[in-house]
Amino acid sequence: MIVLGSNSEIAQAFVEKILKEGERFENIYLLTSNKDLCHKFMQHLEVKYGQSSEIIELDLLNATTYDNLKHIESDLLFCATGYLGKNSAQGLYDNDNTQRIIDVNYAKLVPLINYFSEKMEKNGKGHIIALSSVAGERGRQSNFVYGSAKAGFTAYLSGLRNYLYHKGVSVTTIKPGFMATKMTEDLELPSKLTASPEQASHYIYKAYKKKKNIAYVLPIWGVIMFVIRNIPEFIFKKLKM
Ligand SMILES: NC(=O)c1ccc[n+]([C@@H]2O[C@H](COP(=O)([O-])OP(=O)(O)OC[C@H]3O[C@@H](n4cnc5c(N)ncnc54)[C@H](OP(=O)(O)O)[C@@H]3O)[C@@H](O)[C@H]2O)c1
Repeated sequence: MIVLGSNSEIAQAFVEKILKEGERFENIYLLTSNKDLCHKFMQHLEVKYGQSSEIIELDLLNATTYDNLKHIESDLLFCATGYLGKNSAQGLYDNDNTQRIIDVNYAKLVPLINYFSEKMEKNGKGHIIALSSVAGERGRQSNFVYGSAKAGFTAYLSGLRNYLYHKGVSVTTIKPGFMATKMTEDLELPSKLTASPEQASHYIYKAYKKKKNIAYVLPIWGVIMFVIRNIPEFIFKKLKM
């Protein structure tokens, strides 16, 4: 199994979920921009599940080659990579913030996923599970740079699914609403609409087993986003969302 964004609590909860369900892998490749932080998780996998894993350092913002990834092959890729950055009120005109949001959520991430999807295509099998966001469904004033990067990523995953379908590879897009992780620790989130990492991993695992195309986490977000998508633009632009 290949994990992108291995220090994400969602990535770690999903890996734990899949191991608890009894699946084992020849190796789990933990790609991370912060090797030291990931070490404890690697040890935990060995001690609790007897599952071997390997940490591979890759900061998307600095990676110029994928030479250190040549030995990595797997039928399963889980991508939790993402960067929220500053919201519009704090960071809209901060170009470094804007660039980083675009790079981590889309521009530097897409070539990396392409790198692994090419290997899966050649093998004629595999499953890619990637976390996008409900923020990509409609641009809202509060965080539309992040939202637009996620919109691009969602469209990329949709096209990749369509392309790889004919090659025996599945692509599952996960669209989380709110999840209680380090990404959102400074935000006040409505508890009924917010998934814990364990809850999120439960729904992601279900989507994985059913080879779903798209899954919302929590499922209620599917209904919420249906409503939000259908608000006429002349009303939507007046709302403060
Ligand atoms: N939390 C939410 O409410 C929420 C809502 C909607 C969508 N999402 C999406 O769900 C996914 C997981 O989110 P999360 O809440 O677990 O966020 P998180 O804790 O911030 O995890 C995202 C991970 O992305 C990786 N990453 C960030 N910058 C990177 C870089 N320059 N190079 C390589 N990797 C980098 C990091 O992993 P390493 O430290 O291992 O490098 C980081 O731990 C993200 O795609 C996020 O956008 C989250």
